[in-house]
Amino acid sequence: MDFQEILTFIRSLYPDREQIPLHEPIFSGNEKQYLADCVDSTFVSSVGKYVDTFERLIEEYTGAKKAVAVVNGTQALFVALKLANVRPETEVITQSLTFVATANAIHYTGAIPHFLDVDPDTMGLSPEILSKFLKESTVQKNGRLINLKTNREISAVVPMHTLGHPCRIEELSDICKEYNVSIIEDAAESLGSFVNGKHTGRFGLMGTLSFNGNKVITTGGGGMILTDDEELGRKAKHLTTTAKIPHKYEFIHDEIGYNFRLPNINAALGVAQMEKLPELLKSKTEIAKKYSDFFSRSPWEFVLEPSFAKSNYWLNAIKFKNLSERNSFLELSNQSGVMTRSFWKPMHQLNLYSSCPKGDLSITENLYETVVNLPSSPQQ
Ligand SMILES: Cc1ncc(COP(=O)(O)O)c(C=O)c1O
Repeated sequence: MDFQEILTFIRSLYPDREQIPLHEPIFSGNEKQYLADCVDSTFVSSVGKYVDTFERLIEEYTGAKKAVAVVNGTQALFVALKLANVRPETEVITQSLTFVATANAIHYTGAIPHFLDVDPDTMGLSPEILSKFLKESTVQKNGRLINLKTNREISAVVPMHTLGHPCRIEELSDICKEYNVSIIEDAAESLGSFVNGKHTGRFGLMGTLSFNGNKVITTGGGGMILTDDEELGRKAKHLTTTAKIPHKYEFIHDEIGYNFRLPNINAALGVAQMEKLPELLKSKTEIAKKYSDFFSRSPWEFVLEPSFAKSNYWLNAIKFKNLSERNSFLELSNQSGVMTRSFWKPMHQLNLYSSCPKGDLSITENLYETVVNLPSSPQQ
């Protein structure tokens, strides 16, 4: 099998398309009707029924006790970290193999990301490596977990469910309980992904979703904070709505909050998209199956969901043998109108985060050099 055969196969998945995008949204439901309703009612901005409905639909689907809609996934993560008491000059353990928003959200709190390696199969934070690090390199002092090397407190752990495939979140959760450190899950990519029937984003203190245009469902831009702690949910709503004390006409704010609320017009899109979520996920599973069958006859490995989990297959991916093979395919496919892309450059290799503390990151580096994301839009 050669690269041309791969491109021909991808074209067969998305026939009659000159340019094949990596992941495009489908608006085949009530989107236009709900948007028109917002315009007709004038409720396009910060209040309106769609925000509440969208939050309830996400609560029902994920099982989270509280879902709080916000402007995007990055700020959802930032607020979740703040509410988890992540403070300046503390360290937050996360994976280097992630979109820059994960590290940025940590940085916005004043904390410092500390990068550890991922598992080769899930591509998410490795429980084994986390456990080894906590055992060998930290100590408990006055109820705080201290990094022996930097003398800074470890204030949280942020795993990410890469490309929608769940990481070993149950093991990570057990380890973090043992060391009394909070998990905030970056579930931006994993709406519709479950571990043992429990939705990703629900294994730690809080989890966050993104509804950016390239995600499984989109609100244009948007995000959600998930938590089973009702008080934290209330605080998340308060902090993201300028910390205004509800009152008919007075404007009184009891702390410095943020204007991060999701506008009603974006939530209207979200409600229509949620109505279609089962269909979208079904289509994505079917596409992944077709890719998996196709690549079983190839020298390259198709990235399957981990055996213990159900993935939304947000972005399908294959592993090439080396960097030069990966680059040749990326060049050829993008030149011929089939959009593919590599993983994000690992955070520790970006100048902005290169001086952050880190462990051995050879699995991350290998995945970066070999994995390519393939067109994964649901079919119409
Ligand atoms: C892993 C990860 N974290 C965070 C984000 C940020 O989400 P948003 O673009 O909605 O701010 C994204 C996606 O964009 C992401 O893929």
